[in-house]
Amino acid sequence: MFDDMFRRVCAAAALGAVLVTAGCAPEAAAENGGAISGGVAHATLAATIADAPTIKVYKSPTCGCCAFWVDHMREAGFVLDVEDTDDMIAVKLDAGLPLQLQSCHTALVGDYVFEGHIPAEVIARFLAEAPSARGLAVPGMPVGSPGMEFGDRVDAYDVIQFDAQGNTSVYESR
Ligand code: CU
Ligand code: CU
Repeated sequence: MFDDMFRRVCAAAALGAVLVTAGCAPEAAAENGGAISGGVAHATLAATIADAPTIKVYKSPTCGCCAFWVDHMREAGFVLDVEDTDDMIAVKLDAGLPLQLQSCHTALVGDYVFEGHIPAEVIARFLAEAPSARGLAVPGMPVGSPGMEFGDRVDAYDVIQFDAQGNTSVYESR
């Protein structure tokens, strides 16, 4: 039933990408109350968000879940400049995104690319660590990721780091 809801909200943004539902792992969602995210203290993350440059976001004008993710990022304290476009594939190709990692919206910060429904705190950790990488992606649109909440369902998903050569690794699992 929420699959129908998902299609109404997000079909226009799916770009032919298959909806990825990586299987349920509810226990993975409940452990996020600590003071550390991936080894970076929350005070550092807050400072990183406060200091972050404006994030440019490209999204389809009809994408509902993209707008929810923008809300999530703004609530975390990031400043976003959102631009609607009907040619998201061109944006992703210009950004050097490996297309097997594609999701709906694409965000750009400096030389970094952030693709899809990445949690704001994961982006903050990445910016704080400033690795020599091209960016991060949450491929597809996993249910339970920020902007993709449907009831209580939370699917496990990985935030993938990628480099300019298209090499990938798991940056964080949710
Ligand atoms: Cu989406
Ligand atoms: Cu989106």
